[in-house]
Amino acid sequence: METQVGQERSVGAASQTSLHRLAGPMEAHKDDIEQVLISEEEIQRKIAQMGEQISSDYAGRDLLVVGVLKGAFVFMADLSRHVRLPMEFDFMAVSSYGAATQTSGVVRILKDLDHEILGRHVLLVEDIVDSGLTLSYLLKNLRTRRPASLEVCALMQKTGVQQVPLDIKYRLFEIPSVFVVGYGLDYGERFRNLPFVGTLRPEVYRDAVS
Ligand code: IMP
Repeated sequence: METQVGQERSVGAASQTSLHRLAGPMEAHKDDIEQVLISEEEIQRKIAQMGEQISSDYAGRDLLVVGVLKGAFVFMADLSRHVRLPMEFDFMAVSSYGAATQTSGVVRILKDLDHEILGRHVLLVEDIVDSGLTLSYLLKNLRTRRPASLEVCALMQKTGVQQVPLDIKYRLFEIPSVFVVGYGLDYGERFRNLPFVGTLRPEVYRDAVS
């Protein structure tokens, strides 16, 4: 596994503790990962900056953060701890790729919001925007419920593959159009607990179909 994660880390008492804590998921998947695209440190640095930005943009507003399950759960948990405002949380679950790596374009709501969003300031948190079809569908759907405002915070966006125009106010990383796992994103429900974003070795896909 090519990795920048271990090399970039400064080893103080606190980081030694977290290295030890992370050894589990990293070790379990080390033979499956081809390359680390975004290191844990980069992710955490950008999230801290984004938390500051969101704290200042939403100061004095009634913020409702809506996470899109399952992929956004790790990002949402970390981001929300950098937002210094009172806020509420809700979740939607939509169908995604399953074990395949190509979008079907068909979006199905598996779990809807628990609460009304009429008059609320809604921030929709997504893991990754690929074709953009999922997000486009969700935004259309949520707009019909008349929130006071509706913005998107996406951890990643793939470049050059978007099939619909989208206005993404907060985006942390642009990545090439490759299939990635980690930091909430899965392949066949695995790899979500990796602290970085990376690509899988081709054997992982071959083993899954054979
Ligand atoms: P879109 O509708 O094509 O934009 O796809 C959005 C959803 O597909 C994301 O919320 C993810 O659940 C999933 N997805 C897209 N690209 C990837 C990837 O590279 N790895 C894992 N899941 C992905």
